[in-house]
Amino acid sequence: MAYRPISAIVLAAGEGTRMKSSTAKVLHKLCGRPMLLHVLDALVELPLERIVIVVGHDSAPVIDTVKKQFSSKIPIEFVKQEVQRGTGDAVSVGLSTFSDAADTDGDVLVLAGDVPLLCPETLAVLATEHRLADAAATLLTVEIPDPTGYGRVVRDKRGEVVAIVEQADANAVQLELTEINTSIYCFRQSYLAPALRRVIPDNAQEECYLTDTISVLRATGHSVLTVAVPDTSEVVGVNDRAQLATAESLLRARINNYWMRSGVTMVDPARTYIDTSVVLDPDVTLLPGVSLEGSTQIDVSAIIGPDCRLINTVVGARSVICQTVARDAEVGADVTIGPWASLRSGTKIGAGAHIGTFVETKNSDIGEGAKVPHLAYIGDTDIGPGANVGAGTITANYDGREKHRTQIGRDAKLGSNTVLVAPVTVGDGAYTAAGAVVVDDVPPGALAKGVPAQNHKDWVKKNRSDDDIKESR
Ligand code: UD1
Ligand code: CA
Repeated sequence: MAYRPISAIVLAAGEGTRMKSSTAKVLHKLCGRPMLLHVLDALVELPLERIVIVVGHDSAPVIDTVKKQFSSKIPIEFVKQEVQRGTGDAVSVGLSTFSDAADTDGDVLVLAGDVPLLCPETLAVLATEHRLADAAATLLTVEIPDPTGYGRVVRDKRGEVVAIVEQADANAVQLELTEINTSIYCFRQSYLAPALRRVIPDNAQEECYLTDTISVLRATGHSVLTVAVPDTSEVVGVNDRAQLATAESLLRARINNYWMRSGVTMVDPARTYIDTSVVLDPDVTLLPGVSLEGSTQIDVSAIIGPDCRLINTVVGARSVICQTVARDAEVGADVTIGPWASLRSGTKIGAGAHIGTFVETKNSDIGEGAKVPHLAYIGDTDIGPGANVGAGTITANYDGREKHRTQIGRDAKLGSNTVLVAPVTVGDGAYTAAGAVVVDDVPPGALAKGVPAQNHKDWVKKNRSDDDIKESR
């Protein structure tokens, strides 16, 4: 077979009205990744010359998302369909970018941006079958028990495709057909443009349907082939939020199966939520109710859950985290966290440390083997290795205007209910007594005790003269 270039057109200009959303349909996420990027993930596995994405009136966020979050060696171009006149018109707009003669004899894959579970292998089979049969068009079709909403594939007595009829235009007999158009096609480009010019919008939606090119091609004596997709889950279209949830649960099952086959234990895969971008090591155990998001990475033999949400968080080997929310955090090896801890942005926890119940941390470095077991707020703080932070310890890091840091030395021991009024340093090996309110630095090896609550008359007036002090009633 002579070499023939192949390109792709992705239709993403529709308004997605059925989503009832201010976000473009193709930017709705499945397992943390915008729908359109899933489609592009499959496409870039093929040896394409170029990918043209047809975008609609509010195209800036779509273009932005692809440019910022997607990189590929295949050139990606955007073209705007000013008015949504239908899928046929959208393809004409896409084809308008194919000016050079080299393209004219090629093939063009056409797919919708709202069919996110498609696998590259299926696209490759579609293109290969199309070329082997030298067809003018090849459709990917599938038999489904409930074809409601999809275009039906209409065949003649010999079993050859004669048309695709949309739900709204179908007669009673056609509505019974269960073979549907997946909106994934391979066209011989030199036949596609003339066929599109013959399509007229005489349908319920008054739109120019791409699907009508099939009857046009057949009527003009061209061959139209179909390829059946074996796995129906690959071609679910997403038009509304219910279908979005269906597609996401199918993708979730795919992701979870992949990780289980890679050596991850999931006690209840149906209640385990892993973004496409997450990386897991073998022998990780995920208990029910775990949501791993963004760039989260979990090292070997860690145990996460139940009920954890980890966002962009790295967890070291053998660490155990339960009932915890963590965002932009780094957890070392052999750490134990929870239940009910909140690790906010910039938290770093050294190897062997322990963060216990009802502890919140933020922008803090917690040293190796340090312990913060109960009811504490640790913000803008460095805790030395081996330090022990008593129950109820608070780093008072905000003076009403600015945040200040707290330093807690190596092996320091803080009594229950210590308040550390930042900026303040507790030296290596120093102690604080229960209830201490520490306003001055504590030298290494010293004990800070007592509560120096004294009244300072007119302090606010002298120090906060610009505060808006409301008159008391
Ligand atoms: C389409 C097919 C239907 C098929 C189904 C599979 C047509 C007429 N119908 O129906 O046979 O069973 O997909 O999921 O093609 N778009 C544009 N510009 C437009 C209109 C749509 O770019 O003017 C884009 C949309 O953003 C979407 C895709 O084309 O990504 C399909 O449009 P949509 O309205 O979702 O078509 P369906 O009703 O799902
Ligand atoms: Ca659709």
